[in-house]
Amino acid sequence: MQFSDALIARLRVARRVAVLTGAGVSAESGIPTFRAAQTGLWARYDPQELATAEAFRRNPRLVWEWYAWRRQIIAACRPNPAHLALAALESAGPHVTLITQNIDGLHQEAGSRAVIELHGNIRRVKCFAHNHPAGDWPVEAAEPPRCPRCGSLLRPDVVWFGETLDARAVQAAVSAVAQCDAFFSIGTSTVVYPAAQLPWLALQGGALCVEINPEDTPFTAEAAVALRSPAGVALPALVKAVWGIGEG
Ligand code: OAD
Repeated sequence: MQFSDALIARLRVARRVAVLTGAGVSAESGIPTFRAAQTGLWARYDPQELATAEAFRRNPRLVWEWYAWRRQIIAACRPNPAHLALAALESAGPHVTLITQNIDGLHQEAGSRAVIELHGNIRRVKCFAHNHPAGDWPVEAAEPPRCPRCGSLLRPDVVWFGETLDARAVQAAVSAVAQCDAFFSIGTSTVVYPAAQLPWLALQGGALCVEINPEDTPFTAEAAVALRSPAGVALPALVKAVWGIGEG
């Protein structure tokens, strides 16, 4: 892939980089995106009806089984070149803050260390009543086990529809985006708030905004550069061209 000299030069001098990722960054790992796919995870069930506290209250076992199924699919997927390029950038490039809406844990598996997970992580569980953290997903459990601390049911440690995001995660994301010189919006439809507000915050702060997405989003016209390409193709090539990291 070719990038303009101006883009390379501007990214090279960026001291702080913030990155927002969405489902598109994991698409090449085999995890279907939320809004596009008519097959796979989200086609058989309506997530709006299963990914809610009401659904869990009504039928905890059904919601548990659905997440167990999704977790199993995710567990079989590996990080792709986009995840790996971001991990390499964090360890050898400028100061990077990686913010993700994904719950699959693939950024960490690729080697990224400081990941802000806005929507939680399907590999962990917490208690339904008090949010007590309760460790890794108990693979053998066919129905929600009880919290060792308070006895309430355990649930996936993800953000459900109608729930607020973790305030510390949002604060950390907002602060990194407000201070960055360069901002990447990668593989996100940029329609689900509050995460979708971050690209606009970067823009207001004067950051160089780069979008990587094969499709248009509400942010495409605002980005200084929109790379219409799969993340697994564009990102390794860009990281190599700008910072000389990886194989490209
Ligand atoms: P979406 O499914 O809304 O959007 C995925 C985006 O990835 C789309 O814009 C695609 O064009 C793009 N895309 C597809 N393949 C790609 C590839 N190979 N490389 C780059 N981009 C690609 O997913 P999100 O924006 O992550 O929230 O959705 C945001 C939130 O909506 C999710 O975190 C979830 C959902 O409701 C919760 O569960 C709370």
